[in-house]
Amino acid sequence: MILNENFDKLGKGYIFARVSQRLKAYDQNKLFKLGIGDGILPLSRPCVNALIKASSQMSKKSTFKGYPPAYGYEFLKQSIKDYYIKMGAQIETDSIFITDGAKSGLASILELFGKVTAVINLPSYPAYVSANILRGNKIQFLNADESNNFLPTPDGLPNQSHLIYICSPDNPTGQVYPKTLLEKWVDYANRTGSVIIFDGAYSRYVTNDAPKSIFEIQGAKTCAIEVNSFSKFACFTGMRCGWIIIDEAVNFNGKSLQSNFRSRQDALFNGVSYPVQWCANAVFTEKGEREAQKTVDYYLKNARKIKAVLKNNGVSVLDKTNSPYVWFRCPNNLTDQEFFDYLLDNFMLVGTPGSGFGESCNHYFRLSAFCDKSKLNLAMERLDVALKQL
Ligand code: MLT
Repeated sequence: MILNENFDKLGKGYIFARVSQRLKAYDQNKLFKLGIGDGILPLSRPCVNALIKASSQMSKKSTFKGYPPAYGYEFLKQSIKDYYIKMGAQIETDSIFITDGAKSGLASILELFGKVTAVINLPSYPAYVSANILRGNKIQFLNADESNNFLPTPDGLPNQSHLIYICSPDNPTGQVYPKTLLEKWVDYANRTGSVIIFDGAYSRYVTNDAPKSIFEIQGAKTCAIEVNSFSKFACFTGMRCGWIIIDEAVNFNGKSLQSNFRSRQDALFNGVSYPVQWCANAVFTEKGEREAQKTVDYYLKNARKIKAVLKNNGVSVLDKTNSPYVWFRCPNNLTDQEFFDYLLDNFMLVGTPGSGFGESCNHYFRLSAFCDKSKLNLAMERLDVALKQL
């Protein structure tokens, strides 16, 4: 037996775990946390009602449920299918797999492949990189910076099959991929036998006409897998529920990825609990949708406040309104760690150092809008002073 030595290649470790370790020394009540994207708003009333109802069914012998179906209950898959139809994407319920969230979902997809070369933006959500490192995969990074408006294209990539990660709106940059660019990626993937993993965890934050799903793009069904989560728009970070879509048309070397993923879930996943799936299902009711929109609007408003303070102090931010994250170059040419320490030690403000999203981003910083709006007002007063005093 040997250890998986790839653990040694994870570097300094998961950024949010490192930041949380560092914060242990501080009085938690005095901190202004704009670091990890963890919701603070509670579940909406329709979700809570559905959760209570389904939980009470679990308490009676006649309505008790044992193991949930490994691919998810039909009622939730049907609601997700209907949601995609409204976006103009026709998805079969058999293509939908209910998961316990995007991060574990992303990792499970890698089990469909042997060794691959993953194409990942730099910066990117760190779980893409960690999951590929742990499987011993090669990674080809694509710089997402001012030179390409933080939106890399396939131009210059060799005509070989890759596993391509696209997050839109992107974490951490907040950039949203326009339709034309997604078409370019889908065309490249179909031409080269590549597979796109589209992470739509922030898709509800799109406020312009950009696609919210890769399946709004013609040709995506043969080359794309979509991963999504209820966490960021329906306050589910503590509930754990998401979904993956793999159309039967996605094949790799003649094998159906959907059929292999079915086998994977049968063998290794016991599904998401009955009450949690009903809770998630309530998001798609008329009232649930209204509440979800309020949640998104709340965090977007926070994001606009953060951007305003940065801009007023001469810090250039991506002027987009499609994301709960604000990504910017640290002022005064500070490194991300210097800026992090300055904000924390002097103002009790917590952000995320850019290098957590890619080593070379050590002059960038991310502030998250997932925070209480009244606390944010105070935090922004402090940020304003912090930037003026630099
Ligand atoms: C983030 O803050 O980027 C993520 O939401 C954290 C996570 O999902 O692990």
